[in-house]
Amino acid sequence: MSPITLHLGQTLWFDGDPLLDGPEAAVHNSRGGLAVQDGLILARGTADDLRKAHPEAKIVDHGQSLLMAGFVDAHVHYPQTAIIASWGKRLIDWLNTYTFPEEMRFADPDYAEEVAGRYLDIALANGTTTMCSYCTIHPNSVYAYFKAAASRGMRVLGGKTCMNRNAPDGLRDTAQSAYDDSKVLLQRWHGQGRASYVITPRFSPTSTPEQLVALGALWAEHPDCLMQTHLSEQTDEIAWVRELFPDARDYLDTYESFGLLGANGVYGHAIHLEPRERDRLREVGAALVHCPTSNTFIGSGLFDMAGLVAEGQRVGLATDTGGGSSFSMLRTMAAAYEVAQLRGATLHPSTLLWLATEGSARALGLSDRIGTLAPGTEADFIALDLASTPAIAQRSALAQDIWEAVFPTIMMGDDRAVAGVWVIGEQRA
Ligand code: GUN
Ligand code: ZN
Repeated sequence: MSPITLHLGQTLWFDGDPLLDGPEAAVHNSRGGLAVQDGLILARGTADDLRKAHPEAKIVDHGQSLLMAGFVDAHVHYPQTAIIASWGKRLIDWLNTYTFPEEMRFADPDYAEEVAGRYLDIALANGTTTMCSYCTIHPNSVYAYFKAAASRGMRVLGGKTCMNRNAPDGLRDTAQSAYDDSKVLLQRWHGQGRASYVITPRFSPTSTPEQLVALGALWAEHPDCLMQTHLSEQTDEIAWVRELFPDARDYLDTYESFGLLGANGVYGHAIHLEPRERDRLREVGAALVHCPTSNTFIGSGLFDMAGLVAEGQRVGLATDTGGGSSFSMLRTMAAAYEVAQLRGATLHPSTLLWLATEGSARALGLSDRIGTLAPGTEADFIALDLASTPAIAQRSALAQDIWEAVFPTIMMGDDRAVAGVWVIGEQRA
């Protein structure tokens, strides 16, 4: 038998969904633990019970730190790492001015490799153990990403971004090459180690109907794969989609009518949705991804978390780096809280932490493997220091319960709050 390690500290996991059941869905132990063996969670419970059950185990004591599932970032563009925090533009101008020139650089495999490693190290330092990333149109950008993740042991998802119009020379594929390249990449990477391939049309303005049809056909051949794209992020973008697809009923229809709507569809932003779009997304059980720092930074709008959850939509949380202004899921939770406040809703800390872990894992169809700390799942977890700066420490010192203790870290914390990160049981940050 392989050795067992007991990680002891405060612990937090969920035995329900706090969006539906409230904070009672959370299980907090002020002295709890995780038993880890062979990269999997063997057991979880109180520290005393685990010590009794596993007297031979090696003990790692994290003191007052909070052990919880690693963060899951459901929508990110790793190739935009270097252009995060680019000033002064809204979506379409931002793409043309900053994003496309940077993504062009990924034609160079060495550059792709360098940025993929840099991005994953920043993500790990911020406690993110799984992400679903767009790559660039270049197949080598997908190789760079999956290879860098494999060398760190990480469960990651991603795919080649497909676009064949409204993008500069050097950054367009074709309907056929998008299909062919995506298929080769899918066959090479999907299910390889901890990698999952995601079919990735960027958004309907950068794909012709022919390309959307081709990618819809690829998805129909591989329905177990996720398909990710952008939906109804900015009003200017929606008006442009209407011009480009005059026959479409709405933005979602530009995906739906080409075979790109389904339960394994992951739709980023989804801010300005029509009633028909909401109905269809709910009917098929698609996942919507809230990208709050991006939506405020690029000036896109306020995601209707409360309304969408109330009507039964599946929702995940994401940085959307580099449209998003942070690599940190802590900062992303803070922004989600602030956006909800502006919409007259209040997100409880348990809801925020659930969205950043199990909620995003569910949105990506992976909650049977990550994001929950349930026995038998993969041991991707973090230790959060709830007193990582003087400002946070003096506030959390007054806390009457775990929620008051953790909320200052959600609102003011950064990578300094991430005391440790374990990926399949191995410490990686
Ligand atoms: N819509 C199409 N491409 C992008 C992108 O790279 N970032 C964001 N935020 N929105 C997009
Ligand atoms: Zn995006």
